[in-house]
Amino acid sequence: MMPIGPLMIEHRLIERMIDVMKEELVLIEKEKKVAPEFIEMAVDFIRTYADRCHHGKEEDILFRDLGGKNLKDEHRRTMEELVEEHRLGRKMAGRLVEANAKYVQGNQKALSAIMDCIKSLVEFYPKHIEKEDKHFFIPCMDYFTNSEKDAMLKEEWEFDKSLIHEKYRNIVIAAEKILTAKKL
Ligand SMILES: [Fe+2]
Ligand SMILES: [Fe+2]
Repeated sequence: MMPIGPLMIEHRLIERMIDVMKEELVLIEKEKKVAPEFIEMAVDFIRTYADRCHHGKEEDILFRDLGGKNLKDEHRRTMEELVEEHRLGRKMAGRLVEANAKYVQGNQKALSAIMDCIKSLVEFYPKHIEKEDKHFFIPCMDYFTNSEKDAMLKEEWEFDKSLIHEKYRNIVIAAEKILTAKKL
């Protein structure tokens, strides 16, 4: 498998979650309410899977190694755009977390902010994924030898392996902080 294989498979799962979010958005607009647990689930998916796991492998492995190659202007420009888009995606998720926190506290006005954030995310991801799948990943493979591609794929598996431990270590750290704050 080429190192873009796992990345493209991950794109398909991100698309499924984006489809769910699109349909939920229609329901939120209709019912004028949202289940905060749904937003928490969507944010966890976006932050942990789409950003940390997926964009993480793109930036820390594929883009890092492309950075050492003599890229055509077109490819270098696209790679810079993709990194910037990842940054924007993180901002959108952050805004959704803030809006959801306000909504949970009873601020009804936060509902329209939640809807705006979901709308931005469901518009953003398909375009970003299409740019990578159709215009970037495949031509970029030509910059690498077979052994370089194999090494990247191996590094991707290693990257994924450590993530479950990172996620739950962070959950324990957060739980410890909450407990300490309660004791103060
Ligand atoms: Fe990306
Ligand atoms: Fe991607």
